Amino acid sequence: MSKPSTPFDQREFRNALGTFTTGVTIITACQADGKLVGVTANSFNSVSLDPPLVLWSLSKSSNSLAAFEAAEYWAVHILSHDQDQLATHFSKRAHDKFAGLDLETGMGGAPLLDGCTTRMQCKTAYRYDGGDHIIMVGEVMHFEHSDIAPLVYQRGNYAVATRKELADEAEALIKATAASDSFDENSMSYLLGSAYFHLYGKLREFGALQGLNDAEFFVLNTLAARNGRSLAELNRLFVYAGHTPLINVLDDMTARGLLQVVVDQGERTERGLFYLTAMGQALAQEIANAGKQTELALLGNLGAVDTIALRTLLRRFISLTDDGKLPGE
Ligand SMILES: Cc1cc2nc3c(=O)[nH]c(=O)nc-3n(C[C@H](O)[C@H](O)[C@H](O)COP(=O)(O)O)c2cc1C
Repeated sequence: MSKPSTPFDQREFRNALGTFTTGVTIITACQADGKLVGVTANSFNSVSLDPPLVLWSLSKSSNSLAAFEAAEYWAVHILSHDQDQLATHFSKRAHDKFAGLDLETGMGGAPLLDGCTTRMQCKTAYRYDGGDHIIMVGEVMHFEHSDIAPLVYQRGNYAVATRKELADEAEALIKATAASDSFDENSMSYLLGSAYFHLYGKLREFGALQGLNDAEFFVLNTLAARNGRSLAELNRLFVYAGHTPLINVLDDMTARGLLQVVVDQGERTERGLFYLTAMGQALAQEIANAGKQTELALLGNLGAVDTIALRTLLRRFISLTDDGKLPGE
């Protein structure tokens, strides 16, 4: 077939196709000589329920073309939300894509990958010419599926999907906030502040059980994040976090064996540097473990995908607002 002339810009066309959000699959087969082939494909789609048919299209420039054209069976793996690296791995040419992977063997010897949300073993039913691709239609002979959230592909990026009702709700909140001229419960400051307040509150309760007041709890966590800080730095952090700077908090913790002061003659710091002692570190570790348990319990209710979405957006928000400096630095 002669090469068709496209009446429009190829990149623009790709960009237009990229607005169609898809899942991501890896499709595998075994050649007659036993060599395994596999490609990442988002062209996968359902065709028919009865008979059960699915399709995907493979580029005629793929190194795996001959193998798939000869294959009687192939396996479709619909990838889980955390398999984006595997997708990237199988989208690269010219290396042994299966080295080091845990494999089972499917129909026709097709390698079966682990950890996917769904797997289908298919028998080639039809092949059609599709321009610069070959369209493969397969009859599904066997399938397994799970509750694991799928990986999503949109506009050239891997993504996770979160439920639309939540997005609608969020959009309504944003509109309401924009319309309101006063500080309200939909504002970012309120939402982030109250999320922090409630989570941190639970941890502080645990700190209190360990005999720490709010200020001591703050010092312990601050030094656990980076040990060895001067009085001036701790005071700046205290004020920034809304606490009253108190040298006697540090003195008291030192007397209780939680902190030690290391005075270096070369240091131009007022009181030397404050470090957690082994006992202080052990207590900080205990609090961190309790914090992890609290978080896990909360995030378990949120679900894996929404947790990833929340983490991603919070990181983005922090990178917009955090210049790594405290006021006055
Ligand atoms: C998200 C994504 C989706 C892809 N979808 C397809 C597809 O549907 N069909 C195709 O031929 N190539 C697709 N590719 C490219 C192939 O994965 C890639 O060209 C192939 O694995 C190269 O290896 P090969 O030459 O061994 O086949 C896709 C790549 C990515 C990253």
